[in-house]
Amino acid sequence: MSDETPVLILLGPPGAGKGTQARMLEEENGLIQLSTGDMLRAAVAAGTPAGLAAKAVMEAGALVSDEIVLAILQERMAQPDCNKGIILDGFPRTDGQAAALDQLLADQGRRITAAVSLEVDDEAMVERVSGRYTCGACGEGYHDRFRKPAKAGTCDKCGGTDMKRRADDNATTVRERLKAYHAQTAPLIAFYEAKGVLERIDAMAPIAEVTASLGRITGRVAV
Ligand code: AP5
Repeated sequence: MSDETPVLILLGPPGAGKGTQARMLEEENGLIQLSTGDMLRAAVAAGTPAGLAAKAVMEAGALVSDEIVLAILQERMAQPDCNKGIILDGFPRTDGQAAALDQLLADQGRRITAAVSLEVDDEAMVERVSGRYTCGACGEGYHDRFRKPAKAGTCDKCGGTDMKRRADDNATTVRERLKAYHAQTAPLIAFYEAKGVLERIDAMAPIAEVTASLGRITGRVAV
């Protein structure tokens, strides 16, 4: 595997736009979106031992243990499609996860291309996250105010009509998730700055502007 295979990290609190932007990068640049939140929700839905352990923690807005998250992520990263390049969406979130990622990448002969901090105001994130929903058929994301489908209740992408909201997307839990972000994840911004791979983006800007800013970064790192 080439050490030039892109490895992008998207850092940011709940609602910063990590998932929205990672999905666009996957579609437009052919990178693979690795969302530990999506992986954990799939484990919860499947009722695996990891999912059973994670469910209550996620509903409370706290972080799932490094042990569980690392096991799930390592299994996914071992799959061949990840050789194309990856966008880590919601990982790492703790010092321990960041250290484990460094080791995992070193073992694969890879390195972090850029860690992008999506910078936002906390209060605005409560509204962004509480208003969010997705198409149950294809996973396309929408928002009550910021990203409505052309026809209410119908997915623009696949025509599905089964829209879903996440169990942890209520104002009380979002505030707990924000606390967890500031206590355990925000310190990683300085960690990646010290490594010389940090990029900052104003993620309060409209979605298309954030996408354009990310495009400039991914262009520079030759994704
Ligand atoms: P996870 O699924 O990762 O959730 P999160 O980090 O809280 O992030 P979100 O998915 O809520 O937000 P996002 O930044 O992706 O925003 P989005 O693009 O959807 O984690 C959930 C839980 O799993 C955690 O609380 C934890 O328990 C556990 N977990 C996951 N990973 C873990 C790990 N590594 N370690 C331990 N535990 C872990 O955008 C939000 C909304 O805003 C959308 O409706 C979108 O359309 C809209 N929007 C996006 N950008 C903009 C913009 N620029 N302007 C206006 N609206 C926008």
